[in-house]
Formats: sequence, structure tokens, C-alpha cells
Amino acid sequence: MTAAVRKLSEDIFEQWYDNPDQFDRDIWPEALPEKWQTEASGLIASHPRVAIRSGHGVGKTAWLARRIIWWGMTRHPWKIGCTAPSSSTLFDALWSELAKWHSKMPEALKAQFEWKSERFEWRASPAVSYAVAKTARRETPEALAGLHSENMLYIIDEAPGVDEVIFETSARGHEYGWLENDHDRQPDPQQRVFF
Ligand SMILES: Nc1ncnc2c1ncn2[C@@H]1O[C@H](COP(=O)(O)OP(=O)(O)OP(=O)(O)O)[C@@H](O)[C@H]1O
Ligand SMILES: [Mg+2]
Repeated sequence: MTAAVRKLSEDIFEQWYDNPDQFDRDIWPEALPEKWQTEASGLIASHPRVAIRSGHGVGKTAWLARRIIWWGMTRHPWKIGCTAPSSSTLFDALWSELAKWHSKMPEALKAQFEWKSERFEWRASPAVSYAVAKTARRETPEALAGLHSENMLYIIDEAPGVDEVIFETSARGHEYGWLENDHDRQPDPQQRVFF
């Protein structure tokens, strides 16, 4: 980590750890969270899985992209498995939003990450701290399996199009956070949180 970042008070990283909404407000003050994005961020600290059901174009993918950056900024080491039902959803939407919000970060923090076409890496330790984008296909359920980290997060955009087998394979045996963007999957109060 650079000296510029080290100069940031340790306090702020502690505040951000469980407060993704504060992170968004501090990092992107020119693009403050929508009210629902604030509510969704508030659910993360107390729930291992959060799913978002909503209409189109309200900012779900942007919120997921910001969660990738927040997770990477506040945990060490960290890994994030990102998936979506098609490569266009994954790369044209989620990975593109990730590039957008990464580019709008304050310089010193932006420099900690490197955006690549299929990976988003922590520059200081790219082998153990990174997000990876893999299209979810039923015939390759292992796409997100095999990722291990003390700080594991899964991001599933357009979750209704993703086969259950992918969810099961990715979640097995992990301590994980799980953020889905879910237009119409049936609520299951045992497993997921809806609002
Ligand atoms: N809080 C915000 N401030 C400024 N711009 C935002 C914010 N949230 C989202 N956006 C922007 O709004 C646009 C639409 O957002 P996004 O693509 O995330 O919506 P979506 O709900 O995923 O849409 P879809 O239903 O098509 O998947 C994007 O350009 C995104 O960067
Ligand atoms: Mg979207």
C-alpha cells in the first residue's frame, strides 16, 4: 500500500468494514447512493446473503460493482467470484460498471487495484486478493468452485438466469457473503433476504 493510502486514518477503514454505504458516500460523493442502495448496503453487515428484487435500470449492477471495490478495499486477503447468466451480462454490464466506478475513485485508492478484462486485482498481492469473472453455465458448475479465502464473496448478477447448481457449488463449505441481483426468484426466507 502506498504512503498516501497509509496516511488515511486506520479509523476510516474500520468504519468502512461493515458500512458499505459510508464507503460509497466517501468514495463517490458526486454519485451518492439511491435510497434503496443505502438500504441494501445496510443489510450486508447483518446478513450473509442479500438479494435485490427490483425493476430495470435502477442501479443494481452498479451497486454490485461498488460492493466488489468495497470488499477489496476493506479486507485482506480477499477473493470474489462474480458470475451472471451470459457473457454480455457479465462483461458488458457488471465488469463495465466495475471499470466505471474504479475509474472514479480517488487516485490513491484507485491505484491499489488493477482492472483487467476478466480479473480485478489488488496490486500489492494479486495472487491472493482478486475478483474473477466467470460466466455461469449449467455444464460447468465448477466455474466458481475452488475459490478459497478468509474473505470470500460471491456476486451474482441477473440471478434468475443462473442455475441452482452454480449457487450450490460456489457456496459449499464456505464462509461467504452473497449478493444477488434477482428480479423474480421466489423468496426463500431460510436462505435469502429480500426487500
Ligand atoms: N448511485 C448512483 N449514482 C449515479 N449513477 C448510478 C448510481 N447507481 C447506478 N448508477 C448508474 O445508472 C445506470 C444504470 O445502472 P445499472 O446498470 O446498475 O442498473 P440495473 O438495475 O443493473 O439495470 P438492469 O435492470 O438493466 O440490469 C448506470 O450507468 C449506473 O452507473
Ligand atoms: Mg444490471
